Amino acid sequence: MPSRRLTFPESFIWGVATSAYQVEGAWNEDGAGESIWDRFTHTPGNIHDGSTGDVACDHYYRWREDVALMKELGLKAYRFSISWTRVLPAGRGRVNRKGLDFYSRLVDGLLEAGIEPFVTLYHWDLPQSLQDKGGWAERSTAEAFVDYADVVSRKLGDRVKHWITHNEPWSTAVLGHRVGMHAPGLNDLPMVPKVSHHLLLSHGWAVPVLRRNSPDAEVGITLILFPLVPGPSNTAVPPVFRKLDGSFNRWFLDPLYGRRYPADIVAEHIEAGHLPADGLNFVKPGDFEAIATHTDFLGVNYYSPVILRSEVTPENENEPLTLLYHGPEYEYTDIGIMVYPDGLRHLLNRLYFEYQPAKIYITENGASYVDGPDRKGRVRDRRRLGYLRDHLVAAHRAIECGVPLAGYFVWSLMDNFEWNFGYTQRFGIVWVDYENQKRILKDSALWYKQVIAENGFTVPARSR
Ligand code: FCB
Repeated sequence: MPSRRLTFPESFIWGVATSAYQVEGAWNEDGAGESIWDRFTHTPGNIHDGSTGDVACDHYYRWREDVALMKELGLKAYRFSISWTRVLPAGRGRVNRKGLDFYSRLVDGLLEAGIEPFVTLYHWDLPQSLQDKGGWAERSTAEAFVDYADVVSRKLGDRVKHWITHNEPWSTAVLGHRVGMHAPGLNDLPMVPKVSHHLLLSHGWAVPVLRRNSPDAEVGITLILFPLVPGPSNTAVPPVFRKLDGSFNRWFLDPLYGRRYPADIVAEHIEAGHLPADGLNFVKPGDFEAIATHTDFLGVNYYSPVILRSEVTPENENEPLTLLYHGPEYEYTDIGIMVYPDGLRHLLNRLYFEYQPAKIYITENGASYVDGPDRKGRVRDRRRLGYLRDHLVAAHRAIECGVPLAGYFVWSLMDNFEWNFGYTQRFGIVWVDYENQKRILKDSALWYKQVIAENGFTVPARSR
């Protein structure tokens, strides 16, 4: 294929993303309370390299330098999350001014640099005091979230024009309460639908509060979504796909877009004894209406498709991660995630046709490659650059097909604390030296800078 030029819509938002626990550090400073991730990382055995987010990228103290880097890259937007326990150390009640002021200064600094803040309220760091009362398995946590959303948006709502209530409810529900590799580290299958319900409910309840405190802002939620791909062994028959699509994707999309929980998956949970015979007994009148509250955009985090390995048995069918296919015919990033740019295009097209979100932002997409500085201090992360380019080609195709894709955020601005993988994985387009907190723009960052400046790029001949 000859080389060709791709140009994005003029208003396209080029961004990068981070989250509070992964970059801020200063975990107990200026009055911050303990979160479930503080507790989880301070418990031996949970994190691959035994590390914690206590210091991370020290963004809490170095945010000015980081905003300057973003300005240098010409970024239009920065997606970051608020640490609930910085603002409300005990989850509810007393507000910690110092914590709130930190985010207020960050927002001002971004706006001065011409960078639009995209604020995520919940990126997994639940106050430990709320976990002690049952966490997301309790409806009261959804109520606490609304109070928290109110406090934050009263303070920032005059300047923040893009709000994301939750990041990836699937991950909180499944990785945190079933697989146990994320905080709070539980393995309790019946808890999963309850937790995800309270997450979605808290989203629905928070939307009108955000609108009231931030009247001209866009409000949405971010989901991690997985296109399903048949794969080489192809023994996974369509009903199996439909089922997995149900628990990965439809379980979250359907209620958000007014269709309630997918009946086939509910029936299956009841049959397996993971839900009581009366089904969703934790759903109260009015919940579905609240969850389906109109949003201005859907945030999509895309990393990989689901390609099944050959056998699905009754023993493993509820353990989503053990079902993933790994094979030599695919490429994988250093964290073991399959590289499959086409999946993004399929996913975006499907979302548009099936759910018609008013607008879509890709709120995360990126790759872990551990390449570090060479002798001259340059980070030649060629594979990441190719990864980003190929996914942007897929995103551009979706736009050409009419999908209302309005922006793209690279995960991540900089290398950071990658949850249970600790610091063993590097997703940044900026290298972080954790010894001295020095930042180096990787080749991918320099490429992205050029893409932003030109609002597009040339796809070299022979590229996918
Ligand atoms: C996403 C998370 C984000 C980061 C990337 C690699 O699922 O939202 O915090 O860990 O994966």
